[in-house]
Amino acid sequence: MTEPEFLHATRTAYDTIACDYAEEFSAELEAKPIERAMLAAFAEMVGAAGGGPVADLGSGPGRVTAFLHRLGLEAFGIDLSPRMVALARQTYPDIRFDEGSMTALDLPDGSLGGIVAMYSVIHIPHDQLPLVFAEFHRVLAPGGRVLLVFQVGDAPLHRTEAFGRAIALDYYWRQPGPVVELLADAGLAVEAQLLRQPDATEKVSRAVLLVRKRGS
Ligand SMILES: C[S@@+](CC[C@H](N)C(=O)[O-])C[C@H]1O[C@@H](n2cnc3c(N)ncnc32)[C@H](O)[C@@H]1O
Repeated sequence: MTEPEFLHATRTAYDTIACDYAEEFSAELEAKPIERAMLAAFAEMVGAAGGGPVADLGSGPGRVTAFLHRLGLEAFGIDLSPRMVALARQTYPDIRFDEGSMTALDLPDGSLGGIVAMYSVIHIPHDQLPLVFAEFHRVLAPGGRVLLVFQVGDAPLHRTEAFGRAIALDYYWRQPGPVVELLADAGLAVEAQLLRQPDATEKVSRAVLLVRKRGS
């Protein structure tokens, strides 16, 4: 089957900027107490529901996967960009990182205790988001959790440059409301949602959604 153009474009862009992105953001969580707190709440709830593997989807340089490991979770990363996966493996040799796309996960049904997607669904076009949430639902065990973090906005953005390099990358900023509705349509219920104002290093607000797959 031919790959959709948006996946090809996203992979090419992140392959181009992988090293720059890693350098800029690898230590960023240290300055983000709210994200760390939500990741800790997510980890506690996954553990209380029986644990199980946790997939960090769009894991990039692996900083979030590594943080989840430190929280005691059986976390592994999946990313579209081979360069990102190579960097993550090199930086965190004890953690598993696979190439793959959240649009078609190579994982069995009901096999995960949790999913984290931090700033990665921002590259999924609106009409593809129901398919992605259906994949989340398929691979999660009943009661499994999702932590979704994304920039809030109304208009998509097309960038032709990042870190001084030429890219062609689409960003889909969204309001939390429609995302919550799409999650509900997929059988994923929002347990907590947080809207964070931009800090001094950011331009737009961040939404953090903590979600549970319906079932026991
Ligand atoms: C903005 S970076 C965020 C990386 C990481 N989550 C973090 O917070 O540092 C977005 C990442 O999502 C990955 N990505 C984008 N679309 C994806 C898809 N369909 N499946 C898997 N990964 C994807 C990109 O390759 C990139 O590494």
